Amino acid sequence: MRIILLGEPGAGKGTYSSELVKKFCIPQISTGDMLRASVKAGTPLGRQAQEFMKKGELVPDSVVIELIRERIKEGDAAKGFILDGFPRTLPQAQSLDKMLLSMDISLSAVIKIEVGKAILLKRLTGRRVCKGCGATYNVDTMKPKKEGVCDKCGKELVQRPDDMPQTIENRLAVYQKDTAPLIEFYEKKGLLRPVQCEGEYKDVLGRLFAALEKVAKV
Ligand code: AP5
Ligand code: MG
Repeated sequence: MRIILLGEPGAGKGTYSSELVKKFCIPQISTGDMLRASVKAGTPLGRQAQEFMKKGELVPDSVVIELIRERIKEGDAAKGFILDGFPRTLPQAQSLDKMLLSMDISLSAVIKIEVGKAILLKRLTGRRVCKGCGATYNVDTMKPKKEGVCDKCGKELVQRPDDMPQTIENRLAVYQKDTAPLIEFYEKKGLLRPVQCEGEYKDVLGRLFAALEKVAKV
């Protein structure tokens, strides 16, 4: 199964990806996580990306397209993958189409994660991530057992630098301008599966799995 999770910042792409990884045994490929790892490692790519990320702007298409081109060829992606945060512009989507065509494979579905703005803001401002393993929590909705400490590895939980109010507003605006056109792009291809992702977590997961099980049967 090859899936794209399309959704606004804070919609839950990363959170649901980790559930889908367990259920379908395919890797999550998150350009955001890959870029943050490069920033942390202080590579030239990381230093370039950081300038865009801290303002909530998109990193240039050429950079992320190359990251994905290499990553989807890796062995663990042969059975399928979950793309989280890629593509985010029409040129990225068109490049992905070409990459998949050249590998003689195709997408199974594009899950559109639907969440209203008030909830997005709450999810983003309340998000905390583990400094060690990157696990995600929320001070309102997904609390760790012990405040400020990761359940999985015991390291400190911190806010992402781009989760500050002004940067959040810019990220949401960038989504509307650059990424929302992908909804029509994938709708025309018959790949779009909208899933309402507000409400109880277990209900949201149930709706996501149901949408994907239909895809798996096709
Ligand atoms: P990226 O890391 O992809 O960030 P994003 O798209 O802004 O999305 P987020 O990671 O903020 O949100 P999410 O949807 O994963 O939500 P999460 O699961 O954490 O990108 C960061 C930056 O990198 C970009 O701004 C850009 O600069 C650059 N970049 C990345 N990809 C790029 C590309 N392709 N092209 C160019 N530039 C690129 O959930 C949010 C919170 O909600 C959490 O606290 C979670 O616990 C909580 N939560 C989730 N679901 C629920 C639920 N159902 N109920 C209650 N709480 C929930
Ligand atoms: Mg994420």
